Amino acid sequence: MKTLLRVGLLLTPLVLVGMIPISGITAEDGDAKAVFEKRCSLCHPTSRPLGKTKSSEEWEKTVMRMKGYAGDRISDKDAQIITVYLAEIRRK
Ligand code: HEC
Repeated sequence: MKTLLRVGLLLTPLVLVGMIPISGITAEDGDAKAVFEKRCSLCHPTSRPLGKTKSSEEWEKTVMRMKGYAGDRISDKDAQIITVYLAEIRRK
């Protein structure tokens, strides 16, 4: 029992360290919608962007403009994730 416990304690930090890159990938791949909904509803409803279609260049410009308004509430990485997401679901 004691040995098992010790192995468990040794493995826990390794699992936690392993989780950090995993959750990073999730944010890029699966959770783009969540990032979009969180960041782009700070000042207006998400229906504002969702009511539009734009080319990916236009989405990039729009997201960068919003990032300018939001300051550090929208990170570079979030802006990138949101641009890709909108260019995919709301392409002109
Ligand atoms: C800090 C506040 C703020 C945040 C956060 C914000 N917006 Fe905006 N948004 C505005 C304001 C102010 C306007 C109206 C002025 C303008 O269009 O520049 C606007 C207008 C818009 C418009 C309509 C104008 C256009 O260019 O089509 C879209 C689309 C839009 N926002 C998308 C987004 C997206 C996508 C995000 C998330 C990345 C976002 N907004 C986050 C403040 C914000």
